[in-house]
Amino acid sequence: MAAVAADAGVDLRPHVKTHKSPEIARMQLAAGSRGITVAKVSEAEVMADAGLTDIFIAYPIVGRSKLERLCRLARRADIRVAADSWEVVSGLSAAAAAEGVTLRVRLEIDTGMGRCGLQSPAEAVALAERMAGLPGVELSGIMGFSGQSYSAESDDEVAAIAEDEGAQVATVARELRAARFDVPEISVGSTPTSIHAGLMGGVTEVRPGTYVFSDRTMVALGSARIDDCALTVLTTVVSRPTPDRVILDVGTKGLTSDTSPLPGYGFVPDHPELRLTELTEEHGIAHVPEGYDLPVGTRLRVVPNHACGTVNMFDQLHVVRGEQVIDRWTVAARGKMQ
Ligand SMILES: Cc1ncc(COP(=O)(O)O)c(C=O)c1O
Repeated sequence: MAAVAADAGVDLRPHVKTHKSPEIARMQLAAGSRGITVAKVSEAEVMADAGLTDIFIAYPIVGRSKLERLCRLARRADIRVAADSWEVVSGLSAAAAAEGVTLRVRLEIDTGMGRCGLQSPAEAVALAERMAGLPGVELSGIMGFSGQSYSAESDDEVAAIAEDEGAQVATVARELRAARFDVPEISVGSTPTSIHAGLMGGVTEVRPGTYVFSDRTMVALGSARIDDCALTVLTTVVSRPTPDRVILDVGTKGLTSDTSPLPGYGFVPDHPELRLTELTEEHGIAHVPEGYDLPVGTRLRVVPNHACGTVNMFDQLHVVRGEQVIDRWTVAARGKMQ
């Protein structure tokens, strides 16, 4: 991904919600990333404590305690934060002014996902104008996120979404510049669209997250091959109640309930015949051809549908080379709701 970004002439700022681990974030920086992206103040705190201090919080921060923590963090880290409303911008301003810091703000533009984001270039210009008089905040750019790429049916469709995302943020940047605002940073995201960064003229930064492990959803979209998937959940066959049914000791509390465009809840590379059709909390219900040899006690690695949700279920990642565990990395930024 660092090579893709370098070829396209854009910065890479990976979203670390996928791994929540300072060790992996450090490797991403060593491989050429400019900084990191997070979704939560608590993720930013954990990463800053580990020395990763160039952070974009791609989320609207609302509420007094989060704002206070954000502004305290801005004293010791290089923080950028997203906003898409007057309420968020004025909250950031009041908290930053009280703490005596300046926050760099990127206005979020809805590039078609239908989640957060300003709905038109005119809305972006209007918010930038209102923000201009506020203390403690400074416009540093804009961001988009085309999560609709996860529902694309082919890589061509993903490429078209990426091109369109680039064109939309470029239009907003042009209108902001015409209104005399400086827009040095134009950030877009997602693994599938970042692969097509070369199609997005004017963008300065991509924020892919899932690419670092990949998962079955990325395979379904053509953004990765199954052999690229680095994250698996190690499970054990705990029951063989019928000749075609295999019960694994992992359910939604390990693999999550997340679906992917492919059927089922995971893929077992060593046994591609196995179909993991249903999960309850602690059980995985799988089917195999009748008489398939998979006795109780067999251990299986499952590639999850969604790497980010799966990692968030565990305290540690076990780093494996072949059959050997060579390291353990803490999922340090998980479980921070207090
Ligand atoms: C705002 C934002 N940026 C970037 C990403 C990274 O996208 P992906 O997980 O497809 O790599 C996400 C993912 O949820 C996101 O919400």
